Amino acid sequence: MLTTDRIKALDLTIGVVGLGYVGLPTALGFHDAGFRVHGLDVSERVISELQAGRNPGDDPTFDNAIPNDERWTVTTEPKIVIPECDVILVTVPTPVQENKRPDLRFIQAAGETIFDHIDRGKRPVVVLESTVYPGVTREIWSPLIESRGLSEGVDLDLAYCPERFVPGDPNHGVRQVPRVVGATDTDIVKALAELYSHLTEGTVTPVSSIEVAEAAKVVENVQRDLNIALVNELALIFPEIGLDVEEVLTAAATKWNFHRYTPGIGVGGHCIPVDPYYLIQKAHSAGAPVELITSAREVNATMPKQVATRIIRQTSDLGRSPSSLKILLLGWSYKPGIADARETPAESLANELVEQGCEIYVWDPHIQAEHRLDGPYIWVDQPETSKPDVVILCTAHEEILGLDWTALRKSSDLGFLYDGRRVLDVEILHDAGWITGAVGRP
Ligand SMILES: NC(=O)c1ccc[n+]([C@@H]2O[C@H](COP(=O)([O-])OP(=O)(O)OC[C@H]3O[C@@H](n4cnc5c(N)ncnc54)[C@H](O)[C@@H]3O)[C@@H](O)[C@H]2O)c1
Repeated sequence: MLTTDRIKALDLTIGVVGLGYVGLPTALGFHDAGFRVHGLDVSERVISELQAGRNPGDDPTFDNAIPNDERWTVTTEPKIVIPECDVILVTVPTPVQENKRPDLRFIQAAGETIFDHIDRGKRPVVVLESTVYPGVTREIWSPLIESRGLSEGVDLDLAYCPERFVPGDPNHGVRQVPRVVGATDTDIVKALAELYSHLTEGTVTPVSSIEVAEAAKVVENVQRDLNIALVNELALIFPEIGLDVEEVLTAAATKWNFHRYTPGIGVGGHCIPVDPYYLIQKAHSAGAPVELITSAREVNATMPKQVATRIIRQTSDLGRSPSSLKILLLGWSYKPGIADARETPAESLANELVEQGCEIYVWDPHIQAEHRLDGPYIWVDQPETSKPDVVILCTAHEEILGLDWTALRKSSDLGFLYDGRRVLDVEILHDAGWITGAVGRP
């Protein structure tokens, strides 16, 4: 049973199911806070790496951070760890299917494993942390609980506490970000708020239900998708009337309540391009209107195609056909400083350009050879070796911002450079001999 005394005494075993981008830092955070941690993952690779004391992921923050003491156990065997857990946090993937509908199979499978193995005498609290639409925790798990003859509030409790930390951002790690937690039982919600306060220095806000906490998380990412879609759409409008969107946004941002976002080639990662589809699906099933969120998703999802079209247009104005172009993409991961390439817009952009007949080269110093996506692209270890006609900045990695543009220009025949993130200084590039284009610039 989760009690204040046991939390204060750090006398709890915390299970973490799914040790990926979110689960591993969460498990390490609770271990660091002094609790016993039991990690479970279905991936033999992840567990054998962790058991050898190695970081199974691509975030170097955890390279030398894997514990080796009696408070840390990791396994693929649920029967070894689940019965001992007082609190079980579930951090499994929540992707969408081909048709963009939520894929809840991982949550279902994790629930089956947990409810088959819990020690009902302990009355553990099972907390979903994965991002979902409001209602998923109960829709998926309550039938599993009932079918096993278990009773919520007697044999176990359910709760939801969305994860918000930003992988690769030291200021917004699991030990800093504020949390929201919802559960049915008010004592459980209070106890969980106290437990999470040992993990994070941020505030922990209890809310009135699991569904409010579920909704809060998906809304956070829907809002980001909408804000980014707005500037991306503006970046398609303003060049057509001879204006640079960045100059317009900078001017607008002098007003106190204007929120400044920067347009780009699209959004990526496991959250923003995915989570809005969860709310869209829920709204459809509830018969509620969801036009704005759907349109924003469409705008962001089609940005790579829009950018490809503009680059082909600008290079054809320079007398070059798509099939004559060698194009180098600078950066592949979906945001700077990390190697995560899930849903990266660089891939959609590359595919669009390949379809047009271009030859695509990719340089991303963060993505190790074994993680490079197979496809009709040629990965290079040095940008100059591709001798590109066109260079497109896709990810503003520090290594890319610090490139020797003069040297790269010498290796380029056409010398057309497209800033897909609005981070480059056009004056310097012109001095280095580049012809430039950029998202949102005429
Ligand atoms: N990545 C982020 O930046 C981020 C941030 C906030 C929230 N989230 C949310 O967190 C959740 C997890 O995302 P992630 O990026 O960590 O995913 P991930 O793919 O990196 O990790 C998931 C892990 O779960 C394991 N797994 C899958 N099914 C399992 C099962 N039945 N039992 C045990 N292990 C299982 C996988 O092997 C994998 O190691 C998602 O809902 C995501 O939307 C992600």
